[in-house]
Amino acid sequence: MRRKIVVGNWKMNNTIAESEALATELLAVLGENFSGCDVGIAPTYVALEATGRIVEGSDIQLVAQNCHYENDGAFTGEVSARMLLAAGCSAVIIGHSERRQYFGETNVTVNLRVKKALSEGLNVILCVGETLAERESGVTDAVISSQVREGLAGISDISSIVVAYEPVWAIGTGKTASSAQAEEVHLHIRTLIAELYGDKPAGVLRIQYGGSVKPSNAAELFSMPNIDGGLIGGASLNATDFAAIVKAASA
Ligand code: PGA
Repeated sequence: MRRKIVVGNWKMNNTIAESEALATELLAVLGENFSGCDVGIAPTYVALEATGRIVEGSDIQLVAQNCHYENDGAFTGEVSARMLLAAGCSAVIIGHSERRQYFGETNVTVNLRVKKALSEGLNVILCVGETLAERESGVTDAVISSQVREGLAGISDISSIVVAYEPVWAIGTGKTASSAQAEEVHLHIRTLIAELYGDKPAGVLRIQYGGSVKPSNAAELFSMPNIDGGLIGGASLNATDFAAIVKAASA
């Protein structure tokens, strides 16, 4: 039985003070009832350390939204994996579709980042997902396959990786993939991982769904056999909604 994992991706929202307030509220709302699943929050880089101090000692993990593939150097505007580790992060989201769409990330740069994060000891949430045009032209499986294969190229141990399936057309749009649509792609990912790594790693790999997950649809999505939690954007900015989703995953 895979332990579910729910992570709030705060994206480019909240100042340091607002992030501290949201984390404080989240701890209060969650109480002790979330021990049934792993929980993480991903504030902006500038708020990581302060937010980390709020959740320190709790079961909420501190997650970053991206990292660079070098340790240091002339890479203006970038943050490295070792810096995230020093700031208290245990995991990092890599390859989010917003990075791919707006900031030129490719499967090659995603792969470099994943390898660096793993080598520094961070857990990785590797995001994959098709656009609406790709879904409508029937190439969803092919797109997901190449994102998974190329994102994981050269990586022999996937035990510190979680894959997040996030259909681009469902992110921030209010449109959620139906639980059957999501399950179909999750199964496709698990089958591909079994081909690449064998049945055992495929059986323990956690695959999160992301894209307009809300308290009203979380339980149904999480009840699917290959959906092992969620990567939550908009609803993670509200402590009550995020806590409800965490509880749905803990049930
Ligand atoms: P959303 O974002 O929940 O606002 O759709 C999900 C994500 O981008 O991780």
